[in-house]
Amino acid sequence: MKFFVDTADTAEIEELAATGLLDGVTTNPTLIHKSGKDFLAVTQEICALVDGPVSAEVVALDHAGMLREAEVLRRIADNVCIKVPLTVDGLKTCKALTGEGTMVNVTLCFSANQALLAAKAGATFVSPFVGRHDDNGFDGMALIRDIRLIYDNYAFDTQILAASIRHPVHVLEAAKIGADVATMPAKVVKALFHHVLTDQGIEGFLADWARTGQAIG
Ligand code: G3P
Repeated sequence: MKFFVDTADTAEIEELAATGLLDGVTTNPTLIHKSGKDFLAVTQEICALVDGPVSAEVVALDHAGMLREAEVLRRIADNVCIKVPLTVDGLKTCKALTGEGTMVNVTLCFSANQALLAAKAGATFVSPFVGRHDDNGFDGMALIRDIRLIYDNYAFDTQILAASIRHPVHVLEAAKIGADVATMPAKVVKALFHHVLTDQGIEGFLADWARTGQAIG
């Protein structure tokens, strides 16, 4: 499973990239606003921090406008992945861009039928929003499960990018189902490393090591 961080905060991205475990970055207009930085400038900075795909979202709602914005965004770096909404125009744009070899992330996916359409449009990634699905009384993981089943039935190459991930149990469940990618806030990536028994174990081993009076090297 690939791990993407869902942020436009370059300090957070740099810290996670240093672990060697970060496979990509996703951003959206809300995260760009939160960063307080210029969209194109911060996207360029992020693309230089990671080798993997960096999703940058168009804001036009029509096909021609999306293509114009995508052209600007994809000139930033080779690892830019154009993010389009799951609409008719978004999928038309997806088909055109992936046909030319540009990576596309189809976002705001809330049904398995929408995910089926994204795959037929040749999407590189489809982003079902697990947390927002849960927030509204639906089962976000059931959506991931349905999409996995459908994509496997037809051997679609589109990668399932579990998005709107809010906590480590979401990551665990998405991994068990076989989502290809999980994108999550930095705090969720960091939480995956921690276990109280790991901390206690280190504490106990170090206390006993100190009693030996030895040093390594
Ligand atoms: O990856 C999509 C994400 O940015 C939305 O997450 O927590 O705002 O629903 P959230």
